[in-house]
Amino acid sequence: MKKKAENYIINGKEFSLFMPQTEIIQIVSNLAERINYDYKDKSPTCILIMKGSVFFGADLMRLLTIDCRLESIRSSSYGNRMESSGKVNIQISDLNIKDKDILIVEDIVDSGRTLKALLVQLNALLPKSIQTVSFLSKPDKRKVNVDVKYIGKEIIPVFVIGYGLDYDEQGRHLPNLYAYV
Ligand code: PRP
Repeated sequence: MKKKAENYIINGKEFSLFMPQTEIIQIVSNLAERINYDYKDKSPTCILIMKGSVFFGADLMRLLTIDCRLESIRSSSYGNRMESSGKVNIQISDLNIKDKDILIVEDIVDSGRTLKALLVQLNALLPKSIQTVSFLSKPDKRKVNVDVKYIGKEIIPVFVIGYGLDYDEQGRHLPNLYAYV
């Protein structure tokens, strides 16, 4: 990964600044405020969908003032491409969520296929309730209908990296978002 001014070049593709860290912090803070209010009488289990939600999930949970628990699930669909492969591989093991209030924590909902597959598998484990919080959403890219209760920001259908999102496993650590345009 090469840095060129405020741009990054990964595998020959140039990404330019899309959202600064200051805006990211504000979005996460707004989401936490809504969740703290809605769940004030509950103790939700936050399930971070790895790897993309690692930074968002960590930042969000540190702003939660409610009693909450942390779980994680590995899910992958992209490979090293910029488009979803359409096949979702979800690894759920030893997850006991029966009768619990579940909050799925995603970095982005794009086609919606990952979230839809997650909802099918998690609902089969009989949680008391299940909702989703996603840092980003690309409504124009949706291929399946999914309900996302908490959306940080809807964005145009550009490929973004940073703050957990990657291109070919690179760029996840960047504190700002960068877009390939
Ligand atoms: C990304 C992202 C979501 C999913 C969204 O994960 O973290 O989980 O794709 O895309 P969709 O709505 O089209 O299904 P990815 O499969 O790339 O794995 P990663 O989190 O390890 O990067």
